[in-house]
Amino acid sequence: MKLTYLGHSAFEIQTEKGVILIDPFLVKAPNYDFSNVTDIFVTHGHADHLGKAPQIAMKTGALITAVFELAKYCSRYGVNVNGISLGGWINYDWGRAIALPAFHSSSSDDGTYTGCPVGYLFEIEGKRIFHAGDTCLNSEMKVLGEVYKPDVAILPIGGHFTMDIENAATAAKWIGANSIIPMHYNTFPQINADINKFKSEITRTGKNPLVLDIEESIEI
Ligand code: NI
Ligand code: MN
Repeated sequence: MKLTYLGHSAFEIQTEKGVILIDPFLVKAPNYDFSNVTDIFVTHGHADHLGKAPQIAMKTGALITAVFELAKYCSRYGVNVNGISLGGWINYDWGRAIALPAFHSSSSDDGTYTGCPVGYLFEIEGKRIFHAGDTCLNSEMKVLGEVYKPDVAILPIGGHFTMDIENAATAAKWIGANSIIPMHYNTFPQINADINKFKSEITRTGKNPLVLDIEESIEI
């Protein structure tokens, strides 16, 4: 499968049986071609994560998976939604996914309550990829490492709204994934981060820092 970074917390996963888009706030990749997207996952209701999810779903027919309240909010646009909550594996053509705790808040721009924020663990073609969403460092990450054993973890590093680089290094140890991909940094002044510091801190934990440029892809 192919993982592509689309800036901020947005990623695309191309699988053999579908194309997954996560947190499609696409200001850093405005020309991204979403025409093949089959599934959209949104971690919480904030605009820098919901992005253009309803509009992309309207154009493509893609299914939006989100926590129940956020899915209900998206359904105002007349799109296909799959309302879920924490802890249950959900099956798809391409594999399965489970929502896990993120410690943050969640509402839409118009103030609508959009349920609890989450991260997603994807199991696709024998690999497990964790997208943490917006969260602080938290002990649930020890459970994630012990129970779910991801191969790749995508973690916020920008601070201010989420954990920072030092906490991401601790999270990397607890989660136990071999490769750590940074997100949620350098989009706004409050979340500027020193990417060389990220690389050295993650390397010190014995894990592999994987820093992707905007629209850069890797095979997983
Ligand atoms: Ni947020
Ligand atoms: Mn955010």
